[in-house]
This record gives sequence, structure tokens and C-alpha cells, in this order.
Amino acid sequence: MQEIIRKDLRHVWHPFTHLKYAETPVNIIKSEGAYYFSDDGRKIIDAISSWWVNLHGHCHPYISEQVSRQLQTNEHSIFSGFTHPGAVTLAERLLKHLPAGQERIFFSDDGSTSVEVALKMALQYWYNKGDNRRLFIAFENAYHGDTFGGMSVGARNVFNQAFSSQLFDVVHIPIPASDESEDYFEQFEKMLRHHVPAAFIFEPLVQGAAGMQMYEARHLNRLMQLCRKHEVIRIADEVMTGFGRTGKFFANDYLEEKADITCISKGLTGGYMPLGITSCAGFIYEAYLSEDKTKTFFHGHSYTANPTACAAALASLDLMEKQDTANHIFRIQGLHENYLRFFRKFYPHIPARSLGTILAFEIPAEGGTHYLNPLGESISSFFMSKNILIRPLGNVLYLVPPYCISNHDLEYIYSCISEFFSA
Ligand SMILES: Cc1ncc(COP(=O)(O)O)c(C=O)c1O
Repeated sequence: MQEIIRKDLRHVWHPFTHLKYAETPVNIIKSEGAYYFSDDGRKIIDAISSWWVNLHGHCHPYISEQVSRQLQTNEHSIFSGFTHPGAVTLAERLLKHLPAGQERIFFSDDGSTSVEVALKMALQYWYNKGDNRRLFIAFENAYHGDTFGGMSVGARNVFNQAFSSQLFDVVHIPIPASDESEDYFEQFEKMLRHHVPAAFIFEPLVQGAAGMQMYEARHLNRLMQLCRKHEVIRIADEVMTGFGRTGKFFANDYLEEKADITCISKGLTGGYMPLGITSCAGFIYEAYLSEDKTKTFFHGHSYTANPTACAAALASLDLMEKQDTANHIFRIQGLHENYLRFFRKFYPHIPARSLGTILAFEIPAEGGTHYLNPLGESISSFFMSKNILIRPLGNVLYLVPPYCISNHDLEYIYSCISEFFSA
């Protein structure tokens, strides 16, 4: 065993990793474009964008250059009482892409903290207005991160069962089925009347960690409309769906209703640096504008609006705004749809779905869809033997590739998927 792996096994604790039975980690010494290069000479296709963060490819020369330039001028500066051009420009430019009505950008560190900020922002909004609304509504099977607020609004499952007694009460409702009944919406409105919740948080159109579960924009529109009618704050968690994954810049772009608060992270820096953003509508911000100092939003992180992360985000945004990137997203979407048509002919009993650059297959398995389904390990090792990084969500095999992935690599991945299902 190599020295680095021996040391890793001795000193390091990896995320979401079973300590006793985990496979020995693969030592990545270089990454470029859609590939990882391991020290045993393998070139591995990153079919999941390194946990959904990478957009334009690894070590993209333009982003790397902008980050390195930033490192010569201001690597980090405090963001309370101080500002810097990167944060201001990023805020201004992102607001042009975020849902209409979003007016302010609050910076944090990652997806979980962007959600934590959103939950606190919504709760204190009501507190500052002297209203006692405390309850959140969320979808069943949701994933909003690993902080306590994120866990509370997320699904109650193996991810957080050790903390269940410390999580706050949330009303969880199922995502709407494609042929959802009127009764579902009537019950939802009844619940809004009865509970008078503070906010409704949702992953718009795709529940990523739940196994790329998808639901329709027209149904989410109705739920959001009802929330607007009952003054319930709408929080869109676009941490996974943002930056083109669903085929549009944000999943919110499929909706007529617009969120009041939006959480973004992951693709925000093109996969370079951790950075989270919570944007909000003007009316939320105004509830904090007061002579009364107790109405301040007392939240911040040491690395809030880190200038190097902002430089990466601006460079990634430059690339996102290029027609070339839109073309790549469109190309991947088309290839996914073609393969899906082909796949459905041969495997009509396997539920398969796609939206934008996301493609998912739900392998029927005993015990249903869940993260600990042992099928996940056999899927991973099959694809690793083909030099493809796929990290299934239990029995759900999915692709979320970086936009630079070639047609050739996608065709190779599809052929391996067909081989996997025919085995
Ligand atoms: C929808 C959603 N929200 C929040 C998070 C948490 O993000 P992070 O892992 O950056 O804390 C994730 C992570 O997968 C996510 O998919």
C-alpha cells in the first residue's frame, strides 16, 4: 500500500464514509477537464461533477488564472464594515440571473450555510415584524444540508437519526405527483390556514439527494401561489439545481411564481472554492432596516464573501454567460434524451428520467429507494472498473456531468450503463 494511503487511513476521517467497510480511497494527483488522474495511472471520467460542483471542467485555465490573479491582490478580507469589488460585482451580476424581485445577496460558506441563513432570515423576518410565525413546511425526502436547520427541514432518515430529538418541528408534505389531485392543493391550503407557517422550503423541480426525484413546474407554481396568498415566505434551495443543471440558469426560470429567498452554492464558483449565497426579496431586507439594534441579522462567517472564492465565482459566471456554455448544456440534454428513449425501449420496467443535464435510473430494489441500499456499492465499483466516477444515491444511478464532457465520453458512459443493466 502506498505511503499516502497508509497515512490517509491513519489520520483522515472522510465524509459520508463507513469507517469499517469503506473501500480504500483513490489518490487523485491531477484533474483536468472532465477527468481525474490517479497515481496508479488511471484517467477517470468525472460523471457527477465532483458532487455536483464542477461546471466547466477541472483546472479550467481561465478560472485558474483569475483565482491566481486575485491571490496576488487580496486573498481575504473581513466583510463586516469592509467590502471588496469582487463581492459587489458578483452580487450585482447574480441578481440579474436570480428570480425577479431578489434584491439583496448575503454570503456564506457552502450549501448548508446558505440554507441555514435562509431559515434564520425567514424566522427573524417574522420576529422583527412582531409576528409569532415559527413553523416551516418542507417536502418529504428533502435534503437541505447537514447543519441543524438544514437537517430539520430535510427528510428524517439515517442521515440525521442520531440527532432526531434535537431537530425542530417541520410539516413535511409529499412532492406532487404528475397527475396530482385537486385534493392535494386543497389540503395544502388548509394546512397553511391552520398552521400559519413562517416559510416553505423546497428544492425546485429536482430533489437531488433523494435520488433525482423530479416533479412538475406547474404544480410547484400552484404551491408557491398559495404560499403567496397566505404570506408564507417561499425559499428555493437551488444549491444543486442552480447554474444550468436543469437546462435553465436556475430551476426557478421554469416557474411563473418567484421565490422570496434563494439559496445557491455548489456550481457558484465553478467547483473551485466553497461559497454560499442566500438572496432575498426587498421586503425581507426591509424588515431588518430599523433604528432598533436588536433587529440586526446577527449572522456571519469568518470567510464570508471570501475574495478568492468571489473571483472564482465571477470567472465561472463569465463562462456561464457565454453562448458556448448554453450550447454544451443543450448538447448534453439532447444526448441524455436520445439515450433515455433508447433505454426505455430495452428496459421499460426501470424508471428513468432526465431534466437538462441530469439523467437518472431508479433500479428496482428490495427495501425501496434509500441511500444505504447495498446496490449503491456494486454500481460504484462496476463503473470505477470502467474508469467512470459515478456515486449512486443508493439504488439510483445518475449522471450530472460537467458541461465540457465530450460526446465521445458520454457515449462511452451510456454504453457502460447499458452493459450494467444487461449484466
Ligand atoms: C439541495 C441541497 N441543499 C443543500 C445542500 C448542502 O450543500 P453543502 O454540501 O455544500 O453543504 C445540498 C448538498 O447536496 C443540496 O443538494
